[in-house]
This record gives sequence, C-alpha cells and structure tokens, in this order.
Amino acid sequence: MTARIIDGKQVAADMRAELKQEVAGLKEQGITPGLGVILVGDDPASVSYVTGKERTCDELGIYSDHHHLPAETAQADLMALVRKMNADPKINGILVQLPLPKHMDESEVIFAIDPAKDVDGFHPVSVGKMVVGEKTFLPCTPHGVLHLLLRSGVQIEGSHVVIVGRSNIVGKPLANMLIQKSPTGNATVTVCHTRTKDLAHYTRQADIVVAAAGRPNTITADMVKDGVVVIDVGVNRVEDATKKRGYRLVGDVDFEVVKEKASLITPVPGGVGPMTITMLMVNTVESAKRAGGVSK
Ligand code: GUN
Repeated sequence: MTARIIDGKQVAADMRAELKQEVAGLKEQGITPGLGVILVGDDPASVSYVTGKERTCDELGIYSDHHHLPAETAQADLMALVRKMNADPKINGILVQLPLPKHMDESEVIFAIDPAKDVDGFHPVSVGKMVVGEKTFLPCTPHGVLHLLLRSGVQIEGSHVVIVGRSNIVGKPLANMLIQKSPTGNATVTVCHTRTKDLAHYTRQADIVVAAAGRPNTITADMVKDGVVVIDVGVNRVEDATKKRGYRLVGDVDFEVVKEKASLITPVPGGVGPMTITMLMVNTVESAKRAGGVSK
C-alpha cells in the first residue's frame, strides 16, 4: 500500500481563508484580535516559528505586538512584559516562545499569563480544564493533529493511538484530548517515551502512530502495521550540503519507506507545522470574541 499524503498546508490554508473572513467580520463590529508574541534569545528554530506567526497574523488581519528580547534578559523583565500584556486590551492572546534560555523559570512565566489570554493552552488552569473536558484553549500542535485526523476522515473513536513522546506541548495534551469521552476522542491511547522498553512492540499495534520524539528515524517501516495512519510532529534539521542553507528539515518518521506501508501519512515540512500556527490564530480569534462579548 502507498499512503495518501495528508496535505497540512492545504488544510491550514482552507482554515486560514475562513478565519480571514471571520476577522474581517469582527473588525466591522469593532473587534480586532491581537496577539502578543515574546521571543527570548536567537534559537534559529524559534526565530523561524515566531516569524511564521507574525506573517500569519498580518495575512489574517490580526494585530500583533512582537517583542524580541536578548538571551540574557532577566526573569523579572520578562515577567513584567507578560503582566503588561495581561493588562493590554489590544492583546487577546499571549505567546511566549519556548524553550526559554536555561537561566529562566519557564513555569513561572507560563503561570503568570492570564488564563483568558492563554492561547497556547499551557497554563495549569487551561490544562486542568482540558483534562476534565471543559471548554478551554487547547494547545496548538495537538489541536492541529486532531484537526488533521478529523479533516482526513480518520476514525478516532475506538482506534488504538500510540503517541511517541510525552512533552507538555504535544504528547501529554494529545493523549488527554484523544481519551476524552467525546465524538472527537474515545480512542485507546498508549504514550511511549525515551524509557519505553521495546518501542516497536507498541507501535506495531497502533492504528494511528503520532511521532513526537524530536529524533529522525524514530519510526521505521518495520515498526508499523500495514494501513497505519502516521502523523509526524517532528521537525529536525539534518545537514545537507546540496541545500543552500546547508540543512534540510525531516520529521521523526522514515518517510520514504513508512509511506509504502501506511494508508495516510503527514509529510515534513507541510504536515503538522502549518496547522500549529493556524490553531494559534483560531485561539486568538476565539479569545477576541470572548473579550468582545461575541462568544462565551
Ligand atoms: N515551542 C514549540 N512549540 C511551541 C508552541 O506551540 N508554543 C510555544 N509557546 N512555544 C513552542
């Protein structure tokens, strides 16, 4: 079997087109969604993600307030900026790009964000609401994965989903979303990680494999069953002298061989990545609607 490729770029473009119209309508009602973005330091991947977020804000007509702080910024200064954004009525969503430099306390920063503006869904109030199935902002990457599965017509209910990776950003929240007693959940979920013994034993049982380990070739063809659905969340730079920039992006899945066994697979780039930014915009628009009294 050769897999159908899930075109995340196209799904994201369709969703953005809808959002752009929605933003235009909100502006007519005097509501301009606004996103505050804070980047500390110059990690190349983070710079590239943040640039993409700003570009998408412009494209959709969302106001963005961008702060690029030096890597040596003091924790107190970052905290002060977050509090300023909490109090700024033009800002409906606050995004502090992670990871922060090593000298900073990431949790303290996340906990300081007003949960009403927590469009990343990382604040414990948001996480708690997600776990008990209350309406809240869902973390963007796992929410994007869920949308890709739904828009591709994948049966989630009753499926065995094996997630490889247990991060707070992807693995843990995705597992929670998929076990919810809801039409978009009801899956059986196994979460594997770096200490899992015999990873292939679990991935071979999966109807859906989600690779979020942050390591190339974590999932190879011998590790999946025929017809599996594969979602690759990994974004890894590997040296490539044939490229002008000296590297290329690959996921966590050995794409060329796994695609011959899978029924559906996401590419890297062009799979999950474009969805992450799109879900951030969805959350920001939703937050603006709540602030403007258009949505509860
Ligand atoms: N770093 C990698 N992914 C994310 C994300 O979704 N949000 C933030 N704030 N930082 C990230």
